Amino acid sequence: MVLKNKHIVLGITGSIAAYKAASLARLLIKEGAEVQIVITPSGKEFITPVTLSALTGKAVVSEFFTANDGTWHSHVDLGLWADMMVVAPATAATIGKMANGIADNMLITTYMSMKAPVLVAPAMDLDMFAHPSTTRNLDILRSYGNVIIEPASGELASHLIGKGRMEEPENIVKSIKEYFEKRDSLSKKKILITAGPTYEKIDPVRFIGNYSSGKMGFALAEECANRGAEVVLIAGPVSLSCKHPNISRINVESADEMYEAATANFKDVDAAILCAAVADFRPVEASDKKIKRQGDNLTLTLVPNKDIAARLGEMKQEHQKMIGFALETNDEERNATDKLRRKNLDYIVLNSLNDAGAGFKVDTNKISILDRSGNRVDFQLKPKAEVAKDIIDTTLL
Ligand code: CTP
Repeated sequence: MVLKNKHIVLGITGSIAAYKAASLARLLIKEGAEVQIVITPSGKEFITPVTLSALTGKAVVSEFFTANDGTWHSHVDLGLWADMMVVAPATAATIGKMANGIADNMLITTYMSMKAPVLVAPAMDLDMFAHPSTTRNLDILRSYGNVIIEPASGELASHLIGKGRMEEPENIVKSIKEYFEKRDSLSKKKILITAGPTYEKIDPVRFIGNYSSGKMGFALAEECANRGAEVVLIAGPVSLSCKHPNISRINVESADEMYEAATANFKDVDAAILCAAVADFRPVEASDKKIKRQGDNLTLTLVPNKDIAARLGEMKQEHQKMIGFALETNDEERNATDKLRRKNLDYIVLNSLNDAGAGFKVDTNKISILDRSGNRVDFQLKPKAEVAKDIIDTTLL
């Protein structure tokens, strides 16, 4: 019973689908959740607070104050009490207010005070759902980390047929349960992640580096931590920060430093995700003084760096999983499979520099995941935060 004792704030807005929110509240309570309803003024035109409070056993909250005794309802307390907020049905107006911080009713102030994840189940007419403002506002909510439960297609209150009907309460409960199951899916796991480029020093002011931004590795670290894992993030020089308390970050500069940190931390992890773009070579010797211009040419002698993935592949125990990356420009699948075997990886994430929007510096990526048995899964171009979810779902669960 994943919902047992979970505190759920159910936000109800002014849509004909509000009547379904009563079944939703009942189903959540049957699953063992405690439900606190917050309803907008127009929501009350569609379903009465008496019906709802009879179902949940808690007074429905709608106004900032109770008119007769002046009791103040604290949206801040609700934000702290909740393990999740579900807005179902969510009208176009409420979605627009949520996206833009128009805090003119109790539901929106509660939403803006929410510390817990928020799921949103839109309900509206097909033309309103298809309107670019709705599309934009839903994208904004996604960018806040809210989860949108897509509406179904079917007959709408207007008798028109199309997409906009609030998802059925049973399916909303399914999404809520899946959210909690996924969120805890890596609890008690420890995961090592390498990210970013390495800098190989030439002299005190110059280095050999690459274009890696570290965004993919940091997105993976955030997502693993969000799912309850303890993360050791070994980061090359990047201008990114990570906020999650489950992430311990070790900053390194060179491939050698990354090698030392990775091999020292590998023993007690359950999985390693090797996302860093490690320089294959370094100058044989870094000059301690700035190299001056002399003659027409400068020749640097480079020596190979140690292969971190290959070394961890040798150290790997039966219970440990290793995921590597391959950024290729040609013979993609053959090169990736070769790396998978050579480094004793369990999976390799392939991205091609030939795909627009994939690879270094950008916020999106287009990947394929290959495993040791020759299976290949191809994914669409997506934001790196979404790509991180696909990688974790495919390789770690
Ligand atoms: N890798 C590593 N240590 C290195 C080089 C690579 O851990 N010194 C890891 C990368 O983090 C990645 C995988 O190995 O997960 C493949 O990296 P890539 O640079 O593509 O592999 P190389 O073996 O260096 O192959 P290439 O000749 O294509 O550079």
